[in-house]
Amino acid sequence: MNLIQQVKDITSEGLETAHSLPFGAYSDAEFYNLEMEKIFKDDWVFVCNEGEVSQHGDYYAFTLANEPVVVIRGKDNELRAMSNVCRHRGTPLNDEGFGNAKRMVCPYHAWTYTDSGKLLGVPHPGTIDIKKEEHCLPHFKLESWHGLVFINLNNNAAPLAERYAGMDKYLKRYNLNKFVHGQGGEDEEWQTNWKLAIENGIESYHLFKVHQKTLEPTLPTKHAFYIEGGSEWTLTGGDVTNTGVGPMTSAVLNAITPEKTKRLWNHYVVISLPPNFAGLLIGDTLGYIAVRPGTAGKSYIRAGSISSSRVIGDMFGYIRAGSISSSRGSESALDLESGFTQAFLAEDKWICERNQRSMNSKVGKPGKLVELERVVVDFYHYLNSRLFDQGPTANYVAPDSEKLVD
Ligand code: FES
Ligand SMILES: [Fe+2]
Repeated sequence: MNLIQQVKDITSEGLETAHSLPFGAYSDAEFYNLEMEKIFKDDWVFVCNEGEVSQHGDYYAFTLANEPVVVIRGKDNELRAMSNVCRHRGTPLNDEGFGNAKRMVCPYHAWTYTDSGKLLGVPHPGTIDIKKEEHCLPHFKLESWHGLVFINLNNNAAPLAERYAGMDKYLKRYNLNKFVHGQGGEDEEWQTNWKLAIENGIESYHLFKVHQKTLEPTLPTKHAFYIEGGSEWTLTGGDVTNTGVGPMTSAVLNAITPEKTKRLWNHYVVISLPPNFAGLLIGDTLGYIAVRPGTAGKSYIRAGSISSSRVIGDMFGYIRAGSISSSRGSESALDLESGFTQAFLAEDKWICERNQRSMNSKVGKPGKLVELERVVVDFYHYLNSRLFDQGPTANYVAPDSEKLVD
């Protein structure tokens, strides 16, 4: 059976019979190209938060599925997504990453564009009459959901907002519309397929092993639970406990003391928005990772957060006390001084890159998924729906989820 047929079969299974994907799905270049066409050029993809591009001229430029894109804040305060390719001879206009440019000037022959993509000037045209209106930058769709910015390279795409409406009842108590303070880091290159990074980001099964000293003491695997989900989004969660050890303990303890905020702090919620967003919501902060595919075996990971609190250095920037040294997580010892998020992301990078190293094995075989991996099964259903043009799946609602509904 060929790889595509195998993936089609496996991604249509329910939890009872679900297996991990064939390894080729994480290493085969042709399969990767199919994903770029059917997913990253055709669906809503998370890019950054509004706080990262809040001022006139602030931009974020990146390449998505071979398409250079720039998201830029206009003078009118509108955020727009545009092609980052010069309309002269095709040079990328803005450098990749974050920057500020009220006018975009091509580094090659200085054709210049406004912040809404109109061609403004062409130096030294000689006798040639260049019709400026015929040389504007193409636009892409852009939508913001609670300050999180998504783009879609397919201009015929259905709006994003409706897709996420079902989550509202669980998220209402957090008042996400007050999460107006946002920040984010730089792209980090991981030698891993984008799906390994995102599967790792959404499941809580690995906390007790990979994050033994960082997340597990406060977010223990054995108290993780499923809330609701399907192919379009999934919410899972877990109890926040105080075991008396671990870096999050004192901040969480302090935070849960006032009775009125207790119900925000006594559990966490993991928000999975396929294809590429995995968020961790506790109390007043939603920390996340965004995954951008590079090649079949390489991804770019960017961490960020939005919060109702001004005090966010990193995801739990105010949790810097304590020092741990973990034997896990890599070559270099973890250093909490560089930030709690950095510490557990180093652990995730380590395990994802290690996982990737087996993805060309011809003898190893994928195995069964466990109950805590229902969210991974949802992600597979997402793949099934996009790669094979199937419709969205109906949501599964865990029996106790009502408790979290306001
Ligand atoms: S390629 Fe941009 S100005 Fe020539
Ligand atoms: Fe992790």
